[in-house]
This record gives sequence, structure tokens and C-alpha cells, in this order.
Amino acid sequence: MRTPAPRPTSTSRPSPTPVGSSPRAMTRGAIAEWATEDPPASFDPARVFEAGLRNHHLANTAYPIAHRSTIWHLRQAPERHVALLHRALLAEGRIGLYAHIPFCERRCSFCEYAVVERHDAELEAAYHAALLREIDLYAGALGPGAVELVGFDLGGGTPSLIDPARIEEIVLRVKSVFRTGPRFGMSIETTPRIAATRPERLAAYLRIGIDRISMGLQMANPRLLAEYGREHSTLDHNRPAVEQIRRAGFRRLNIDLMYGLARQRALDFRFTLEHAISLEPEYITLYRMRYKGTRIRAEAEGVELDRVVEMAELAHELLLAAGYDGSPGKNAYSRVAGDPGTSAYLTERVVQGTPYLGLGLGAQTFMGNLLAYNLGAADKRLEGYLGATAAGRWPIQDLYLLTPAEGMAKMISVSFYFGAIDLDSFAERFGVELADRFPREVAFLLERGVMEIAGRSLRLTGRGAREENGAIALFYSDRVKAHLLSRREKGKA
Ligand SMILES: C[S@@+](CC[C@H](N)C(=O)[O-])C[C@H]1O[C@@H](n2cnc3c(N)ncnc32)[C@H](O)[C@@H]1O
Ligand code: SF4
Repeated sequence: MRTPAPRPTSTSRPSPTPVGSSPRAMTRGAIAEWATEDPPASFDPARVFEAGLRNHHLANTAYPIAHRSTIWHLRQAPERHVALLHRALLAEGRIGLYAHIPFCERRCSFCEYAVVERHDAELEAAYHAALLREIDLYAGALGPGAVELVGFDLGGGTPSLIDPARIEEIVLRVKSVFRTGPRFGMSIETTPRIAATRPERLAAYLRIGIDRISMGLQMANPRLLAEYGREHSTLDHNRPAVEQIRRAGFRRLNIDLMYGLARQRALDFRFTLEHAISLEPEYITLYRMRYKGTRIRAEAEGVELDRVVEMAELAHELLLAAGYDGSPGKNAYSRVAGDPGTSAYLTERVVQGTPYLGLGLGAQTFMGNLLAYNLGAADKRLEGYLGATAAGRWPIQDLYLLTPAEGMAKMISVSFYFGAIDLDSFAERFGVELADRFPREVAFLLERGVMEIAGRSLRLTGRGAREENGAIALFYSDRVKAHLLSRREKGKA
């Protein structure tokens, strides 16, 4: 998984933002240039919590929301982009890396990602060349080995749709620019059809060091698969896919499932879960449907929070009974002791807020106070990205210098992917204890029994996982809270 890029909608030219140093600016990465904060508003935690629940389709791990009304004023002028990015990378020194391969044979109507339905040899070659050029831009700016990688994920789209020799070239080019850390690992996404029918690709991935594979199963109900436009609307490929993945030698297989869809009943989801468990993957990741930016966004209105919660609780119960481990609110379940189930890239990003760099169409980059989107994030079209890289330009659509409040909100939102905030990581990154920065919010959550302290972690309780959307909203910036509070409608994404 990656947190999907929320999509800003314009590329009009911003003016440079006045910046200042926060006395409590983050201690890691030595980025002193935070945008100046607004004077703090004093929102009642109970009201914000209720607004998060009311807007449960929006108040999730994808942050920020409503860019135009919340962080638009923090956009930086294009002539500053490269220097800011360069400086952030060198200051951080240690990052996760994500490369986006946008091709899919057909776009599933529930999909939120930057996906291109066209795929032929010419377009694949052009995109591959563009990605290599983008890596080369970083090579030129950083020099070899200046930055360490904690992990590298190839996602999409469907990265396994392209020639594995191209994947290998990308991996080699990445490794020639970045040095790899001690727990470095690589993960790639595939669909059941490709895994079942192209075993030679699976073997190639292992040969080049990709040791984790993630397969999007989504749902096992032929009716739903067909209705949502999955390229293969039967179950036929799932079991052969797993057999091929095992035969190739993978020992780290993840299966993605989706829930919270308007046309999906609890019964459908139970069938999907039982089917996925019967395939015996090491990990199962649950994706709650996010409607924003999808072809079926209008269906969000029909999905009440209670129904979504019922499905999440069903999954928790069945997965635990099947020997998978996962705490309340955690999306990734694992049956390998000591392994959270996520890729090296994602695990550090979720727990420690480790910065990440995104390559490719519409990819998102987040490094402390810097948030950037590549071209294609807003319009999901390839032309801008291909054109910029061909001309030797950095393919950046928008770059923001965040306030500390926005940086904290972004880090905390992502940490809810595991249903918990790591208190040491927060304090290390921002130079302040979570409870000192959010005293009323933390007290509210503890008193209500939504979260609890466990060692150096503030985590959702079993009951609190039902109200995760309210809890996340409490850590949003004041502007984003104001946006949520201003929205009265139920359910809309
Ligand atoms: C980029 S997709 C790659 C997987 C692969 N292309 C496939 O579909 O088989 C990663 C995962 O994101 C999840 N996903 C897609 N659209 C989503 C949405 N609108 N909300 C939440 N999760 C979504 C799916 O579970 C999917 O497997
Ligand atoms: S869910 Fe996967 S296969 Fe479907 S459009 Fe999105 S990336 Fe492509």
C-alpha cells in the first residue's frame, strides 16, 4: 500500500510563502524552514471528533484533504522546487522510495490511483525511459550513496504488467543512486491474472532481490468483481496465482482485500475473507474503500459508518481466529511472528514517520515539512510527466512547505494505518511530546476510551477502532479541522 496522493486540482503559479523557524521545529533532518503557523484556534475536541465521524469517508489516513482551502497558501514557486527537494533529501539522509507504474488493462471503478488504461510496448518504453530520467535527475543532484533507502516499493497501477527486464533496470538504477540500509527490502504489486499466467516474471523479481509480493484480490464475489469492472471477473486465477508465487520461491505474500463498498454486503465480505484465508498468504491487508476521486464517488453517501465498522470487526474476528495477528484498527494482518506484514518502505513510514520519495506519475513525496506531488496527481494524465522528464525537467506538479501542525497531522494520519501513534518517533521528529502538543485531544481520547497508552504508544482500543475517523480528525491542523466542521453532509466523499 501506499497512502494515495490526494489530488490538488490546479497548477496555477503560487507565490512564495513567507517562512519562519519554529522554536520547536523538528529535530530530525534539520529542516528549519517551517511555514509560519496561524495563531492556534481552540476547537472543542468533542465537536471535531464528531465531525470526523460524520465525515468518515474523508477523515482517514490520506492527508491533507481539500488542498485548495487548507494548504494552498503553502505552495512554493516552481523555481524553488528543486532546491527545496534537494536540501530536504540531503538533510533527511534516510528515506523510503516508491516508484509508480500506472498501467492497468482496465480501470476498476473503485480505484483511486493514477492509472492509465492504455498499455502497449511503445507507451511502456516511453514511461520506463521517463522513470529512468527522473532517477537520473536525483543522481545528478545528490551524487551516489548520499541518501540511504530503508525500502523500495514498486506499485501502481500494475507494475507486473511491464517487462521484468525494465523492472530490473529500474532497481539497478535506483541502487546506483541510493545506498541500501541494513533492513532494506523491496516489494512489488501484482494482479492474480498476471501472477497465474506469467510465472517467469515472478522468478525474475526474486532474482533481482524483490522478496515481497502483494496481490490485489479485492473481493471474491464474481458479481461484485464484474460490477466494479475488474479485468478478470472470476475467482479462477487466485489459487493458480498463489501456487505460482510459491513455486517461484516467495515466502512473503500479501493479499489486498477491500471493504466498505456500497454494493458489498457483510456476507460478501465474509466469503472474500474465507477465500483469502484459504489461500494461506503470510499477510492480508484490509483496504477500507476511499471514495474520493473514484468513478463511484457518488456511492459514498449510501455507506453508513456502522456498516463499515461491522465489516472491519468481522475481518478482525476471522483473521485472528485463522492465526493472523493484528491490533484494533491495524490494516495489515500477519501470521509471521515479529513481522507487521507491511513492506520495509511502508513499515518505517507508518511507525516512525520516515520520509519518502515518490517517483513516477502523480507520486507523492513527504519529508518533514515538505510535501510534493508529481505531475499527473491532479489530472492522472501521462503527457505532462513524459514531457517534463523528456525535456530534463523535474516532473513536479506542486510543492508545499508545511507548517509544523500540517507536518504532525500528516505523520499521525499515516500512523493510524497501524491504529497507533509511536510516541518516541513523534517526539524525536517534532521535538515535543504528543501529550504536550495535543493535551486536550489526548485527554479526550483517553477519557472516552477510544485510545489507550501501551508502553510508548498511544493506540486504539478494541472499542475505539470503531471511532477511528473521529480520533484521526483530532490531530488534523486547525484549517483541516475547520474544513471538516464546515461540512454538514453525512457520508459524502
Ligand atoms: C495500487 S493497487 C495495486 C494492486 C493491483 N493493481 C490490483 O488491483 O490487483 C493497491 C491496493 O489499493 C487498494 N485500493 C484501490 N482503490 C482503492 C480505494 N479507492 N480505496 C481504498 N483502497 C483502494 C486495493 O486493495 C489495491 O490492491
Ligand atoms: S485496483 Fe489495481 S488493477 Fe484496479 S485500476 Fe487500481 S491499480 Fe489497476
